[in-house]
Parts: sequence; C-alpha cells; structure tokens
Amino acid sequence: MSRALNVPGIAYGGDYNPEQWPEEVWAEDMRLMAEAGVTMVSVNIFSWALLEPSEGTYDFSRLDRILDLLHAHGIAADLATPTAAPPAWFFVAHPDALPVDKDGRRLSYGSRQTFCPSSPAYREAALRITGELARRYADHPAVVMWHVHNEYGCHNAECYCDTSAAAFRDWLQDRYASLDALNHAWGTTFWSQWYYDWDQILPPRATGAVPNPTHRLDWRRFCSDALLSLYEAERDVLREAAPDTPATTNFMVNFSFDALDYWRWAPELDIVSNDHYLQSTDTASEIDIALSGDLVRSLAGGPWLLMEHSTGAVNWQPVNRAKTAGQLRRNALSHVARGADGIAYFQWRAAKAGAEQWHSAMLPHAGTDSQIWRDVVRLGADLRALAEVRGAVGTAEVAIVWDWNARWALELPSQPSAELRFLDLVRSWYEPLWRAGVAVDFVRPDADLSSYRLVLAPSLYLIDDEGAANLTGFAERGGTLGVGFHSGMVDANCHVRLGGYPGAFREALGVHTDELFPLLPDERVRLSDGGTGTLWSERVRLEGAQAVTSYQDGPLAGVPAITRNAHGSGTAWYLATHPDPATLAALLDRIRTEAGVQTVREAPEGVEVARRRGPDADYLFLINHTDRDAHIPVSPEATELLSGKPATGSVTVPAGEVAVVREPLRG
Ligand code: GAL
Repeated sequence: MSRALNVPGIAYGGDYNPEQWPEEVWAEDMRLMAEAGVTMVSVNIFSWALLEPSEGTYDFSRLDRILDLLHAHGIAADLATPTAAPPAWFFVAHPDALPVDKDGRRLSYGSRQTFCPSSPAYREAALRITGELARRYADHPAVVMWHVHNEYGCHNAECYCDTSAAAFRDWLQDRYASLDALNHAWGTTFWSQWYYDWDQILPPRATGAVPNPTHRLDWRRFCSDALLSLYEAERDVLREAAPDTPATTNFMVNFSFDALDYWRWAPELDIVSNDHYLQSTDTASEIDIALSGDLVRSLAGGPWLLMEHSTGAVNWQPVNRAKTAGQLRRNALSHVARGADGIAYFQWRAAKAGAEQWHSAMLPHAGTDSQIWRDVVRLGADLRALAEVRGAVGTAEVAIVWDWNARWALELPSQPSAELRFLDLVRSWYEPLWRAGVAVDFVRPDADLSSYRLVLAPSLYLIDDEGAANLTGFAERGGTLGVGFHSGMVDANCHVRLGGYPGAFREALGVHTDELFPLLPDERVRLSDGGTGTLWSERVRLEGAQAVTSYQDGPLAGVPAITRNAHGSGTAWYLATHPDPATLAALLDRIRTEAGVQTVREAPEGVEVARRRGPDADYLFLINHTDRDAHIPVSPEATELLSGKPATGSVTVPAGEVAVVREPLRG
C-alpha cells in the first residue's frame, strides 16, 4: 500500500447498504457489528438514485445519518462514489450514454453499470456527484478511504457505440500519430483493410470473418484505458477536496475477468484492493485464492485489502455452492497470508429484495442463529489476534511473469489452437509450487528481476522487445528462466517474430522450431520420461540446448519436448508441450531445486504454507485444507497467534483449521 489505512490492525467488515433497510434495523446492525468485531464498512456504493433524485438536486440526509452512526460506534467508513449505478433519470435524459454491444444492440437501464465508458454525459454527471460527495464528506471523521466506483468494467468493459468509436480513434491517434504507422502496426494490407482516413476506423464490431488481431488487441488496450481515465478523473476530484484521504477501487483479479490491465492501474491507486469469489466448479479453489492473492500483492508492491469475498454461496453461477465447514475461515486467512491487511465481504446483511437476494452475507437471512454468523464472529476474533501482522510483506525467490497484453493476444481468434487459456496455463505452473510451499511473486515482463533466483513464463505469446531482453538478460546474468510453449511468438503489435520459433526466446533457449503441431483436445503424446504431453507439440531442433525429454510417439517421435540450455552464466528451460500435472510438478521441482529455491516450510500435501515478514518477526501461515491433522516443525521460540499459546518446536494444525505462527526472523 502506498498510503496507510487509518484503521488499526487488520481491518474487518463488508459492504454495508443500510439504505436498503428501515432505519430501525440500523441499531441492530451497530450492535452486531460490534459483536463481530467489524472495524470498517464500505458504504454508498450504489446509492446515486437516492442522493440525487433529479439532475442537480441532492439529498444527503440519509448518508449523513449513516456516517454519523458509524462514527458514533467507532466504525470507519470506506466511502464510495456511487457512480457504478447511474439513476434512471440520467438515462432518460441521455439515452445515448447506454452502452452498445458488439452486435449493435443498445442495452437498457434497470440494472447497474450500464453506461458507455466514453460518454461525456456520464463523465460529467459522475464527476458532479463525486464532487458534491467529496466536498460534503472530506472532513467527516468516519471517512478513512474513498472507494471509487465499483469493480470498473465488471459489466461494461466494452461499448461499441459511435461515441466509443470516436474515443477509440483519439486513443489511436495518440498511440500512432500517423495513419501510416497504424496501417503498418495493424498489417492492413491484408484483406484490403488499409485506412485512408481516421474516421474509417471503427471498434471491432461483429464481422462475418475473423477480425484483424492488432485492431482487436488495441481495442482491448483502449477499453482498459478508457475506464482508467474515468477512475483517475474521479480520484482527482476526491483528492482535491481531501488530499489526505487515500483512494482505492476494487480490482477483480479473479478467475475469468480479464478486461483491465491492472499493471497500468495499480500505480494510480493509493491502496490496492481486490474482490475474489470462488467458482463452484473449482475443486481446488484454495489455489485460486492463493494465486490471486499473490498477484494482487505483486500489483500493490506490498500489503493490500480484500474488499469483497463471500461468506457462503454467491448467486451468479448456475449452481451456487455453500462453503464447507471451516472454509470461510480458511479462505479469509489465506488472503491474509498472501498480504491482505483487511478482510471484507459482500455484504454485511443479506438482502431481502433485489437481484442479490440469494447472495450470502455476514449476517444471513436466518440471523445470528446460523453457522455463518458464528464463523463471522470467530473470524473477527482471529483478525484481532493477527493485528501485529499488518504491514508485514512476503518474500519470494520465484517470479511468474504475468502480462495482460500476452493474455489478450493469446486468446484472440485464429490461433494455432483455440484450446490455450492464459490463466489455465499460469495456474498449472503455479499449482505445483503452491503444493510444494514455494513463495511466488508475479512480475511484469519489464520488472526488475534481480532479487529472484527463478523466473517462470508459462505463457508469454506476445512479448515486446524490452520485456524479451529483460527476461533473457536475467538468464544471461546467472538466473534460471523457464519458458512455456507458444511464448515469444509475436511482438507488441502482434506481428510474428520471423526466423523460427519461439521467436524472442529462441537464442536464450538454444532451440529452433520450424513448425507447430498443436494437439487435439483429447490427444496425448507420450514423453520419454514416462509422462505425457497435452495441448501442444512442436518440431524443435536443438541449437545448443540439451533435450531433457522427447516425444515418444506421434508425428514428432524422437523430437525434444523439454530442453535445458546454458545461457550466459544462467540456465534457460523450454517446455515445448504441456506435461501432465505429475510430470510438470516433478519438472518444476527439479528446476527450482537446481536454481537453489527454498520452500517456505516443508508441510504435508494439502497444507498451505505462506510467510509474511515483519520488521521484528516472521509470520508463518499454515492452512490445513485436508481432513487429517498436520504437524509442522516451527522455531523453538514460536508463538501461535490465533490461540496465543507458545508453540515450541512444532505446531499441530487440526484438519480444516489454521495456525499462524510468530517466529524470530530467519535470514
Ligand atoms: C461483485 C460486486 C458486488 C456484488 C458481488 C456479488 O462483483 O462488486 O456489488 O454484486 O459481486 O458476488
């Protein structure tokens, strides 16, 4: 966090929407928040229609009462600008501010976040209500943070209307300066796509055949930037009124949301916060939490806040599963283990009406006589016991390269295989490291890599020259680099790097591929080490590297599948196929052992291990996701913080439970 949150210890709370309830209920809210140990709530997120009943007329009386009430009860407010849900009157006055989808269909209001990000009328109205709010509450003693908007891009990341088209053209003019440069970058000599006038350029609306890939990629960059500019505009209004109050907006570093390039966003936030929800179909969702937490910590460059997750089921999946016994606690503490200095839920009180009436909350429909409420109260006590962990950060010897440009480009149409998913590929490499208890940071391709022993690039289809030089330079200077197939293939404009694959990494990897042989969805090739490869194979020729494993059958029998190359004073590994999980785990184990990477602590399979390092102590998080008790060696001078008991030499983490151990700093 680049700015400190003025709430002690690990903040605890959730979205609080008292405007949805009669005021008699509020007193009970305050009493129960005290019982649960709530210290901060996010308010006003979707209240625009109540604050501004008609254009330019305001009624802040209810919000005044809410903020005063919170303050009187010692609860801090993360005060939201309500701009994620413009009122009906706004759309009646400005129907052209409603977004248009790819097929040219204009959407209607009656939900939330149905506005065009490039609409001048929306921007003006959003900044006006933000200014009113900022000036009114700049000095309110309850307000500790601004919550700008809500989950930018969740429902309206892309709008294809004429206003967006004009804004896209402005963005392109900034990027390319001349049409000639754009035409070359987009390769528009292909299929007669050459543009002679800026006005000829449209958003990549629905077409009969495949769109131009660079057009589509620039569109995604533009859409992320258009929303970022809205965030910055609101933040600047808030800063002007209250320069000392930090601003955040809740990210969605989550399984499927990929609309925003958060590397560009994160530096613009005073405090990075994230929302994370489980997928009911994910049988190892604890790994998704860890991955997302490590990525958010890396974006933040330190501690961050979990702004939303759920106590139980959500309401937006085909089947919404409740959490299993102890899962609420394990999930929340797993986020803390990965650097969260605040834990919050959507939402405080389960809604009676509206689109989210079947979403879980801290206070369920059943009231306090419920398992969720008991778990919420217990978690409040846990977080109080962890107050001293605040500010401590993780340290890692391994970095995984994560890049939204590479993600977008990989998933464009007309790839050699439509089966490749960036997140799945990254997760498949992350998972064995998680299982082994290895700490991981995520980095952008041009990051300073000097503190890492091992840098892994599971999927880096697109890489610009600077990023490629940074990664190969890391190996040259003695680091270990691991590269996944179909990486280094195209430059920042999505142009193929010629002369053999994998383009930008060919020399460092000491290989040369002349043809790609992607595999069908159910196809497997046998590997010489006994494993199998899926998804991908390619005709690799060694140019300095050694073959570690080769294909045993199929059209490439005898061709290297996994290679290792001495590059400069370091090592570069290439995985030209997607090994089965056990083979990949064994391989990554070998790679990291050779690179000298340590595990955080040896622990039985299924016991998650993570460490945060404070100025005076290490905090070892042990999260037992199994149904067996686990015994973990710890320092003889350790204390288990959740129980407050000394743990001399070993700690037992019962099945499904969590321990957090304070240990003296180790080198
Ligand atoms: C988030 C959103 C919340 C709530 C939640 C339900 O995407 O920010 O307002 O809708 O999902 O899971």
